Amino acid sequence: MSATAAKLSRCKLAHLPTPLEELRTLTMKIGGPKIFIKRDDQTGLALGGNKVRKLEFLLADALAQGCDTLITLGAAQSNHCRQTAAAAAACSLKCELILNGKKPELPQGNLFLDELFGATIHWIERSQRAAKSAELMESLTKEGRKPYLIPVGGSNGIGALGYVTAMTEFMEQLNGRRINRIVFGTSSGGTQAGMVVGARVAGFKGQLTAIGIDKDERDLNLYEQELAEIANDSATRFGIADRFTPKDFEVIRGYAGGGYGIVGDLERNAIRTLAQTEGILLDPVYAGRAFGAMLDMIQKGQIAADETVLFWHTGGAPALFAYVKDLAI
Ligand SMILES: Cc1ncc(COP(=O)(O)O)c(C=O)c1O
Repeated sequence: MSATAAKLSRCKLAHLPTPLEELRTLTMKIGGPKIFIKRDDQTGLALGGNKVRKLEFLLADALAQGCDTLITLGAAQSNHCRQTAAAAAACSLKCELILNGKKPELPQGNLFLDELFGATIHWIERSQRAAKSAELMESLTKEGRKPYLIPVGGSNGIGALGYVTAMTEFMEQLNGRRINRIVFGTSSGGTQAGMVVGARVAGFKGQLTAIGIDKDERDLNLYEQELAEIANDSATRFGIADRFTPKDFEVIRGYAGGGYGIVGDLERNAIRTLAQTEGILLDPVYAGRAFGAMLDMIQKGQIAADETVLFWHTGGAPALFAYVKDLAI
């Protein structure tokens, strides 16, 4: 570990290490490849998920700056917002969430949990949310509070440190076993950026295959550029000299179906398959889509039967309860 890495401040929120398990029944059912799963749905805080790892570093930064309020933003069923609200409660901070859309009659899934954790919720058109976060930062400051703004998904160089360190945890668990490829969902980028840096740090030589969750209609390379920026910031903070470019990131597109949060057969089948073969819950928006993509790539031979693959489960199951209409048969 670099001297800088050893000094990184971190607020203990997650139950680590998360389990690494083999999906034996599923592997047998589909006839290979051998599939493992890394259970970041079990990071503990607030029903778990990938954001808890990022929040360990973001909260440490907020506390070091003497902040008393976290502000963050996302979709109405944001897992990131739910985990941020819980992290704020655990650290005796206030939490203000800026959520897309209009307040529903009945709060369900993640939104219900946001309220249980005591967050204040602001509803806003998605296009207005950057302006709203700036306005909220200003008004809270005027009231004498000290707000800390966490970007969408906790995806900046600080948050991504959660996945830089996760790769070392994972390599220690592997204990010499070989994994050819890790598959996971990518959306705001902090998980992928951190894993790519962490793979370099921990010496993981396999492929990191990220499944694009969003229907990205922008210049296709723009996302990879953002990933490189987050990764480079994280690498600097971690204290390594390596630099990353868009070419260091593999993003598989074409599985976003009807768009963000729109559940189709891919997600439905993936959720039922893993639930019924292994008793493990995926979510309808991220992990369900990424797992469905992995099964499709296996079926098409894009992931070979003689590979050993790891699905990195990033959580999100609380959203299942807001998607019953789309998932029940
Ligand atoms: C369950 C789940 N998986 C994956 C992701 C994607 O992670 P990232 O935003 O770091 O790309 C998210 C992001 O919100 C998520 O909630």
